[in-house]
Amino acid sequence: MPNNIIYQGAEAILTKTTYHNLPAVQKQRIPKSYRIKEIDTPLITYRTKEEAKLIIEARSAGVPVPLIYDIDQKNGILLLEYLSGPRIKDILNNLENSVLETICQKIGKNIAMLHNHDLIHGDITTSNMIYQDTQIFFIDFGLGSKTTELEAKGVDLHVLMEAFESTHSQKTHCFSWVMDGYRTHYTGKSKAVEQKIHEIVKRGRYR
Ligand SMILES: Nc1ncnc2c1ncn2[C@@H]1O[C@H](COP(=O)(O)OP(=O)(O)O)[C@@H](O)[C@H]1O
Ligand SMILES: [Mg+2]
Repeated sequence: MPNNIIYQGAEAILTKTTYHNLPAVQKQRIPKSYRIKEIDTPLITYRTKEEAKLIIEARSAGVPVPLIYDIDQKNGILLLEYLSGPRIKDILNNLENSVLETICQKIGKNIAMLHNHDLIHGDITTSNMIYQDTQIFFIDFGLGSKTTELEAKGVDLHVLMEAFESTHSQKTHCFSWVMDGYRTHYTGKSKAVEQKIHEIVKRGRYR
């Protein structure tokens, strides 16, 4: 198989390719042998379609996301603009605080703009962010959804809080900068979202 695989995950294989001479990434969802075909195929189609929809909605909301060059729902393929920058995960630990503060505030702003449109990313980790042209691109909307529920917004942010604790344990203060950006740009009641995060943290502690 091609040696241009950039990532092989549990759900999808990502390969670097081109689209009319433009560098592109093909995200191909892979069938699961433990799911019967009658369930697996429609599920792959559904998830591919949902991810594309959310990417488009995120773009409309003003969040930097890759362009969608093509979609093949039946075969579970998304063809996306290739983002050449590093993942935030791979640079964050080595950034100095002033740069880091700006980046984290931009992350918070992105999340607020999603939430302003009731878009839930579903997996906000620093692996799913790419730094390019001073912008933070959000990728991987495969676990995303659309809902007005406060709980979902709290969970969305809590996932990132935990990512800072596990992957960037020397940088956990970053999350407060994320929340600064979020508070500034979220048009709903950010206090209520913060209250939710506290609840989720508490729940986790007593589980
Ligand atoms: N548009 C893109 N440009 C460059 N790299 C990408 C792009 N989309 C995904 N990747 C790379 O592939 C990895 C996996 O993609 P992702 O969509 O997060 O798949 P998964 O759902 O399996 O996590 C990312 O962490 C990133 O390194
Ligand atoms: Mg991912």
